[in-house]
Amino acid sequence: MGRLQKILIPFLGLVLAFCFYSARENFKPEMLKGKRVIVTGASTGIGEQMAYHLARMGAHVLVTARTEAKLQKVVERCRELGAGSAQLVSGSMEDMVFAKRVVEAAEAELGGLDMLILNHVGKSYFSYFDGDVRHIQKLLDINFLSYVAMTVSALPMLKQSGGSIVVVSSMAGKVGFPFTVPYSATKFALDGFFSSLRQEFSIQNVNVSITLCILSFIDTESAVRAAADVLQMSPAPKEECALEIIKGGALRQREVYYKYALTKIPLLLRDWAAELLDYLVRQHYRVERPPAA
Ligand SMILES: NC(=O)c1ccc[n+]([C@@H]2O[C@H](COP(=O)([O-])OP(=O)(O)OC[C@H]3O[C@@H](n4cnc5c(N)ncnc54)[C@H](OP(=O)(O)O)[C@@H]3O)[C@@H](O)[C@H]2O)c1
Repeated sequence: MGRLQKILIPFLGLVLAFCFYSARENFKPEMLKGKRVIVTGASTGIGEQMAYHLARMGAHVLVTARTEAKLQKVVERCRELGAGSAQLVSGSMEDMVFAKRVVEAAEAELGGLDMLILNHVGKSYFSYFDGDVRHIQKLLDINFLSYVAMTVSALPMLKQSGGSIVVVSSMAGKVGFPFTVPYSATKFALDGFFSSLRQEFSIQNVNVSITLCILSFIDTESAVRAAADVLQMSPAPKEECALEIIKGGALRQREVYYKYALTKIPLLLRDWAAELLDYLVRQHYRVERPPAA
């Protein structure tokens, strides 16, 4: 065998193996038809848009947040868009009893659960860290512990359906960003908990997927209000973002990156050139005009 063949055959084998393992199942909206889905933080922003996409796909949606009046409008719109069914449970995720109650409502009203989309986020500040430990504690309850509590309550139903957990996180949950210290801490905690849990599911053959969503700056009202003056980048559209999250969950992907170029690509630098990445992150901030403390 010539030297060229000796190199070419293993190389072709590698290319074929790569193509085989990276071949992805295509997303089809029918995948969500009739599925029973909880969406948290669905009164506005990305959560609201996810509820509408799911409704168009014919899913049964149960939405939750604190503001009942807004949720009622979301539920009405979901019904108009063709949801299998749409209902709401209002309350605050500061309270773990409430978090558990939302899951119980899904069991009672939907008879089970196929997808748990954890998306809500408590209000924080966009400014230099102010040293307020109690704020971090409260934010951890809302942004992290309630995610854990809902997961624990929903697991029996998800195991039964071979379902999915979708966790909405952020680039600020993978890389240190200025002005979001409490928020970042809660998002990093999500990565630790859910990535470890995924490992245990794999060892124990638990057929429940966990999808962690790494988002860049998105054009929701709250994010634009907080960061648009300081962040030097255009926010991506919440409607498209919401659809990408649902696709990733339906395809049982490990992680979703949206926008890809602003999340996955910079993350490639994180472990090899962390200081360069930190520097590049800081270049997107107008630090000469930092937000008021
Ligand atoms: N927008 C971005 O630029 C961006 C970037 C990266 C990651 N993300 C992530 O994407 C997700 C959605 O963000 P978003 O911009 O769409 O947020 P948003 O528009 O501010 O919506 C937050 C949702 O959470 C609910 N919520 C707030 N406090 C709550 C509480 N104590 N208990 C229960 N629900 C509560 C809100 O409803 P009520 O006020 O009615 O309770 C609302 O429905 C979050 O996890 C966020 O971290 C967003």
